[in-house]
Amino acid sequence: MATDTLVRTGGPNIKTALPGPNAKKAIEADNKWISPSYTRSYPLVAKRGRGALVEDVDGNTFLDFAAGIAVCSTGHCHPEVVAAIQKQAAELIHMSGTDFYYESMAQLAEHLSKSAPMAGPHKVYYGNSGTEAVEAALKLARYHTKRPYVIAFYNAFHGRTMGALSLTASKPQQKRRFMPMTPGVTHVPYPHPFRRPEGTDAKQYAIDCARFIEDKVLKTILPPEEVAAIFLEPIQGEGGYVAAPTEFLQEIRSICDRHGILLVADEVQSGCGRTGKMWAIQHSGVEPDIITSAKGIASGMPLGVMMSKAHVMDWVPGSHASTFGGNPVCIAAALATLDVLEREAIKNAEVVGNYLLERMKTWVNKYEIVGEVRGRGLMIGVEIVKDKKSKALAGKERDRIVDQLTFERGVLFLGCGETTVRLSPPLIINKEQADIAMDALEESISIVNKEVSTASGPGMQMGA
Ligand SMILES: Cc1ncc(COP(=O)(O)O)c(C=O)c1O
Repeated sequence: MATDTLVRTGGPNIKTALPGPNAKKAIEADNKWISPSYTRSYPLVAKRGRGALVEDVDGNTFLDFAAGIAVCSTGHCHPEVVAAIQKQAAELIHMSGTDFYYESMAQLAEHLSKSAPMAGPHKVYYGNSGTEAVEAALKLARYHTKRPYVIAFYNAFHGRTMGALSLTASKPQQKRRFMPMTPGVTHVPYPHPFRRPEGTDAKQYAIDCARFIEDKVLKTILPPEEVAAIFLEPIQGEGGYVAAPTEFLQEIRSICDRHGILLVADEVQSGCGRTGKMWAIQHSGVEPDIITSAKGIASGMPLGVMMSKAHVMDWVPGSHASTFGGNPVCIAAALATLDVLEREAIKNAEVVGNYLLERMKTWVNKYEIVGEVRGRGLMIGVEIVKDKKSKALAGKERDRIVDQLTFERGVLFLGCGETTVRLSPPLIINKEQADIAMDALEESISIVNKEVSTASGPGMQMGA
């Protein structure tokens, strides 16, 4: 399929066995040369993309419900983003905002300030990735408060550089043989309403998770006046697409206020319109002191943003910087991305997200292995379980659904958490594409559901 026939509508078209011959060659070369630390789920070798479609090196077309790990917010190669990148690349590629000025740094900051989830004025720091945005937030929190400790949550993912990795509590492999971490980080439980103790009230459980910090952690191990910040994802991304209940966020905010602790909302995955609002924390009305962003902000160009209330960003020249951070081409891509998001894509995420959720929620009654369908906008998770009663984790079954069955049908999904299928498509998908993806996912779930119920014997015969 030629580039110009890749349109923003339509679905997959698989012509070869997967991987095809060219993909096999590319994977061989990759195996020879490329770091084995990456976690490739399936053998997709991408060549070009347009909208929600990706074509591989053998001419197979896939419908992309992963969006490069929730990055291509405006779809692949949105024409307005491409034009902005091309124009900027022909004018000025690099100058280094660390040492020189260019107008667009402040232009983007002003634009972001208007949609910030906390009252202004604001200040903005630019890096090149999510982990750098988090790293900057960690350093700023310590610098501003002059306090050493921070609190983060189990199942959190904040990045892989040493400071951000110290906040991450996602998988042991991410830390294996990398110790010691940055000192001063304490992890506490994050509410997962679906997995709360049986018989507990959902709201009380959420509040209790937050109360644990003040009632236990700040009374037994951390002097509150030495805690700089609490880092949280308003919706845990790599942790399984688990949204923090509003009551939890409100309680965390008041704990922060009582003790002069900064609240950092890591919106690297949940931000930039994915949930139907610019920032996921805006669904709760809770205001953070610092937010971090990356992924969807520049449609795939590398840009990390750390924005804080202006008085918090009181560090002096030399405290922190990056040669490439806020590169002019990335900023041009971000400005074009924000135009598309604000004009249509954020609203579309809400509308198509609700459409998907309505259909998918019926799966909980239909399939024994679907424990829960949850999400906001186009940040949706399907938690796969061995069976509804035990809610036992079903990682292998999840992987089979995602990696094998759905990939072979030409739809790209990723897993997240131990047992969740993640839906993070470009925010510009239409209902037709949503239906195509849902048909493929439901078929895969139904096959695995049958396999599981056959293996478990009678009593598990629910569903198709
Ligand atoms: C919430 C969150 N924070 C930080 C990161 C790290 O971002 P990056 O991979 O761009 O360093 C991620 C990446 O998945 C993330 O989901």
